[in-house]
Amino acid sequence: MKRFLTTFIIIFAITFVHAGEGMWIPLLLKMLNESEMQEMGMKMSAEDIYSVNQGSLKDAIVHFGGFCTGEVISESGLVLTNHHCGYGSIQRHSTVENNLLRDGYWAATQADELPNPGLFVQFIVRIEDVSKQVLAGVTHDMDPRERQSLVDRNMREVSNNTTRESYQDVRIRPFFKGNQYFLFVTETYHDVRLVGTPPESIGKFGADTDNWEWPRHTGDFSLFRIYAGPDNKPAEYSPDNVPFKPRHALPISLDGVDAGDFSLVFGFPGRTDQYLPASGVEYIANVVDPARIGVRDRALKVMDRYMRADESVRLAYAPRFASIANGWKKWIGEKQGLERTHAVAKIREFESAFTARLAKSPALNDRYGRLLTNFDAAYARVAPYAKARIMYSETFGRNIDLFRTIARLDRLIGTYDNNGAEAFRLAADRQKDYFNAFFADYHAGIDREICGVLLEHLVASLEQEFLPQMLQQDALNKRGWQPANMPGLLFTPMLTTAEGMQKLLDLDGEAFKATLTASPAYQLYTDVQARAQEAINPVYDQTMDQIEAWQREYMAALMEAFPERTFWPDANSTLRVTYGYIEGYQPRDAITYEHVSFLDGVIEKYVPGDYEFDVHPKLIELYNRKDFGKYADKATGKMPVCILGSNHTSGGNSGSPAIDAHGNLVGINFDRVWEGTMSDIYYDRSICRNIMVDIRYVLFVIDKFAGARHLIEEMDLVHPKQKG
Ligand code: ARG
Ligand code: GLU
Repeated sequence: MKRFLTTFIIIFAITFVHAGEGMWIPLLLKMLNESEMQEMGMKMSAEDIYSVNQGSLKDAIVHFGGFCTGEVISESGLVLTNHHCGYGSIQRHSTVENNLLRDGYWAATQADELPNPGLFVQFIVRIEDVSKQVLAGVTHDMDPRERQSLVDRNMREVSNNTTRESYQDVRIRPFFKGNQYFLFVTETYHDVRLVGTPPESIGKFGADTDNWEWPRHTGDFSLFRIYAGPDNKPAEYSPDNVPFKPRHALPISLDGVDAGDFSLVFGFPGRTDQYLPASGVEYIANVVDPARIGVRDRALKVMDRYMRADESVRLAYAPRFASIANGWKKWIGEKQGLERTHAVAKIREFESAFTARLAKSPALNDRYGRLLTNFDAAYARVAPYAKARIMYSETFGRNIDLFRTIARLDRLIGTYDNNGAEAFRLAADRQKDYFNAFFADYHAGIDREICGVLLEHLVASLEQEFLPQMLQQDALNKRGWQPANMPGLLFTPMLTTAEGMQKLLDLDGEAFKATLTASPAYQLYTDVQARAQEAINPVYDQTMDQIEAWQREYMAALMEAFPERTFWPDANSTLRVTYGYIEGYQPRDAITYEHVSFLDGVIEKYVPGDYEFDVHPKLIELYNRKDFGKYADKATGKMPVCILGSNHTSGGNSGSPAIDAHGNLVGINFDRVWEGTMSDIYYDRSICRNIMVDIRYVLFVIDKFAGARHLIEEMDLVHPKQKG
């Protein structure tokens, strides 16, 4: 009986506690999450995580550059983030003779730390719920535009009335689709210097082949330092600035993690869509993802072939390949995950329960009863327009460089038309630097082949009415063109060589405009813009606005219809806490993945000279000598590399600290597993896992591999598991 009861309680807990799911607002942890977190093993209080009155974990968390997360790990402002988050900065300091990406970099003294103009980190000082003030005067029957202008006015007023220091900023953001509003007081530091990075063979080990996958062996970390004015306040870069003293720095655990340990990830997830109706999820799986994947599939195939054949192409194309492949692979996983988990059917089931709740209350039913059928109709209506729009932006805005070039040049025409010849001259000269750098890494032959393949794909995929006129069947017939050989017409030396571009940019405004507009590539570009404006955008924009307004009502309806449930707001690039366990998973029948990977796996994957799987001789030597110092796993003596957890993370959580039950750093988040990338839309605890670098690997690389002991000495290394 007792065993039965325990089993029952465990099943009950798993079904109703939703451990793992959710990206929670730090301000509300005490009210919504603290007791569950403590039941799961957390030894801290909500106040230890987020407090306005005393230093708390949140004071060690930064929004890194606005696109990643970082954490402060020393009293002198040392910040840890991912290698792929620091990548741009590292690349800008790299030259052929001094290749930081390839060789790594470790500042021997603070004077050697490298400034990064434009890079910033932002702290959250405090969060306030301002829903009441922002929504004052808003009523149910307002039209969306009227509502928005009232909300905007209220936000300005709240923002103006918020007390803050001169060096602080105030931002108000919508939550729950605009049913609630929260205010953030922030402090932004603009002097952030590069302190250390491992070579790419560690920081990007496995590159695109291993991306989104487990088992993983990437040491995806880099180190920066925040500098402040002499008063410790934000200051523009100056050699006189001093290392920033944080309100809190994360202690670092040397004791590692075990399966079943409580874990928490604290950071800035960018965007999720957890409250879509079933028709919205179907729309993503059947319209949005396939359209994006289809275009990228084709572009990546061409790039890959050239990259494998020629090392210099490989180097030049690696960054753009990585960024196009990152989304592509994620969406393939997302679509498959939605299908495998039967997400649509399960959401439909949930919608029946929702409809049943509404049926019990005439008032609710009256207000919300038509929402689900409205969604169905709207998503069906928007689908062909969305497909065309996505294919346009992927084809002309992302995967064919020629059209990105034209978009840039088109802006110069705008400058000439609006601001005259002199302004044009200045702007055109400024573009010369950009294009010099661009053409250094550009291979017109590759772009041309991609262009042919993608135009063919576009023509084969879209109805005539959605095609630019030049690509419609009549026009093609009349001129005897094929989509596949159009590039012969479009790729002229003027637009695809450094010399041609120089000459074009040297022309005066009038001649520039005449020459550019006479080119077939420019004509196709404006044709595309016009077609989008006429045939695609009006219906798309109008339907999406409508869906957005209904989505806000649907969110409100869910919260009213299920008052006993706790909802979390979709990610919106604001600070969130997510918590779960350190744990492995079962990706498929009969396969079980462990929660930790070891350096042995790096050696197993080693392919000498390969650009993804090469291993540095020093790392091999340390491995052969088992020279892991105090960073080895206590039980096995092996060197841990990556760990898995059931923390609900998303893009933007890269670099986020993984924190143990006591508030110590145990890892750095950097990815999710492929089977679970649908967690942005539909979270399933059984297969959604986040991937972290084990902090002991980070310390080992800094200390044993790089010999940068002075950095280790700044940190506070602790032994939480040896207490008591
Ligand atoms: N998948 C991770 C994230 O979404 C890592 C991306 C960087 N690595 C890469 N090979 N593209 O951003
Ligand atoms: N790699 C992602 C990032 O750069 C985080 C992984 C994810 O999407 O979960 O933000």
